[in-house]
Amino acid sequence: MRVFLTGATGFIGTAIVPELINSGHQVLGLARSDAGAKSLRDAGAQVHRGDIEDLESLRSGAAMSDGVIHTAFNHDFSKYQANCEADRRAIEALGSVLIGSDRPLVVTSGTAMTARPGSLATEDDAPAPSSAIPRSASEEAAEAAAARGVRASVVRLPQVHDRVKHGLVTVLIAVAREKGVSAYVGDGRNRWPAVHVLDTAPLYRLALEKGSSGARYHAVAEEGVPLREIAEAIGRGLKVPVVSKSPEEAAGHFGWLGFFVGGDAPASSVLTQQRLGWRPTQQPGLIADLDHATAFES
Ligand SMILES: NC(=O)c1ccc[n+]([C@@H]2O[C@H](COP(=O)([O-])OP(=O)(O)OC[C@H]3O[C@@H](n4cnc5c(N)ncnc54)[C@H](OP(=O)(O)O)[C@@H]3O)[C@@H](O)[C@H]2O)c1
Repeated sequence: MRVFLTGATGFIGTAIVPELINSGHQVLGLARSDAGAKSLRDAGAQVHRGDIEDLESLRSGAAMSDGVIHTAFNHDFSKYQANCEADRRAIEALGSVLIGSDRPLVVTSGTAMTARPGSLATEDDAPAPSSAIPRSASEEAAEAAAARGVRASVVRLPQVHDRVKHGLVTVLIAVAREKGVSAYVGDGRNRWPAVHVLDTAPLYRLALEKGSSGARYHAVAEEGVPLREIAEAIGRGLKVPVVSKSPEEAAGHFGWLGFFVGGDAPASSVLTQQRLGWRPTQQPGLIADLDHATAFES
């Protein structure tokens, strides 16, 4: 297939490009800068210049392709809700040129969409409405596209890590460095799921090749890593004390991240593994990557 890949220059997109090429696909990667275009060409991809806010650039890229994987997202958290609504419009635009064809559209969401704290989220759990969790806009847009005859599916991601980046844990490291302590909330037994970045790429490919319309897939290797273990790994890395904060102290200590840090959000990928034959391979787990994180190198 010729695959239009948005976010092709990002953390996860950079892993998807070689996965697709090595599996015999061609990649048409979205780039908004000369540097991004060069990095895509160097990786063996073709370049489509555009921007996720330029909906015509998305429609024309999708129209030139046999399938679309959408991973671009504006991560300016000061405008989070607006960015989630921009993602809804981007997915609508991508889907609009795929209606009535069998050309797949794979979009990106998170495993924490189901808003049932403490229960193991599965692929069959519908997302909470975007009025409650703004990022659900991405899944709502995929569902709407599927209802209009697009073979649209969703890949939900947990904390995606390697030794350089670790999802929201990267932000936790910055907070710990700034405050001089590595903190968790309460007893720290609440859990975040995780996956190595190299394990995400085969799942996007399988969803593209075999995904069902309306399906949700979970890229989960570790169902739940306790926040206390994450805080302890950060404490080891930065050589700072590890402390507990009460739920009342969390917002003051962690800022905007306080809402998430105390959350218990385990997630399963059992159904994804059954339905697509995806298996997370032998990549390091989150704590092992944190124990070798470049952020802690002096
Ligand atoms: N990493 C995680 O742990 C995690 C967890 C849950 C969900 N996700 C989701 O997974 C997806 C990929 O995340 P990531 O970690 O790969 O993010 P990332 O490293 O921040 O990459 C974001 C990508 O989006 C592109 N982009 C941003 N704004 C754009 C715009 N206005 N026009 C065109 N392209 C634009 C960036 O292009 P430039 O290279 O030009 O900046 C880059 O290619 C996102 O939807 C993210 O929310 C990630």
